[in-house]
Amino acid sequence: MSNHKLVVGNWKLHPATLSEARRIIKQTRDIAAELKHTSVVICPPFPYISAAISKRGKDSLSVGSQSVSMHESGSHTGEVSAAMIADLGAKYSIIGHSEERARGDSDKIISQKLLQALLAGLKPILCVGESLRDEGGAYLEILKDQIRNGFADIPKKYARDIILAYEPVWKIGQAEAMSPADINESSIFVKKVFSDVFGPESAVRTPVLYGGSVNPNNAAEIISVGKVEGLLVGRESVNIVGFRELLRAVDAVK
Ligand code: PGA
Repeated sequence: MSNHKLVVGNWKLHPATLSEARRIIKQTRDIAAELKHTSVVICPPFPYISAAISKRGKDSLSVGSQSVSMHESGSHTGEVSAAMIADLGAKYSIIGHSEERARGDSDKIISQKLLQALLAGLKPILCVGESLRDEGGAYLEILKDQIRNGFADIPKKYARDIILAYEPVWKIGQAEAMSPADINESSIFVKKVFSDVFGPESAVRTPVLYGGSVNPNNAAEIISVGKVEGLLVGRESVNIVGFRELLRAVDAVK
């Protein structure tokens, strides 16, 4: 298995000003440039995407959006299309985050968003995760449905561009992340379902990230014991002191 890791920062609805965003972008870019085995992607709110994209070509930092419209264009007030985001120079988009699912995005809508992202040349980071973990294992069916339904309309040729993020919803925004052993088990399951959809070769190539209360103290163990290919980080990605420590810890994992 390759030693290369991917860390995605989901800024959510932060920070309040462009000047603050510029400061976090610059500092994150400087840290990313030091890392040897870790790629860093930040997903700021739409108005800050342009500011995050380097005008100088090759960059240590990649940029993504937190969502895309399910539509290509048309009368959809308030929406931002995948093509618009790609045209700015962004390369990724988070799709199906639990906070969007909670606002009403069904698997069908998420599937359309995935398709739009892929058609525009973005790499979608599909978030899947159960809201609760029951003893009977019903959460496994939930994960399976989210993955199967999400990719229902996606042609296999796009499988190579997809990134999966396992985010147990009950572990987002908490003090503690899920245990690395449970993360390992769930990420294997997520990969298995992806393999059922697109085949084992695609599954081997596809990174599975973990997200949910990742911080500088638990990040390295989640990678090494949880055996995921990277992390999706919320709060700590806009706290530059914590994010620096987190990225260095991840980069040092052998
Ligand atoms: P958190 O958020 O790291 O603040 O728990 C993760 C996420 O929602 O992607």
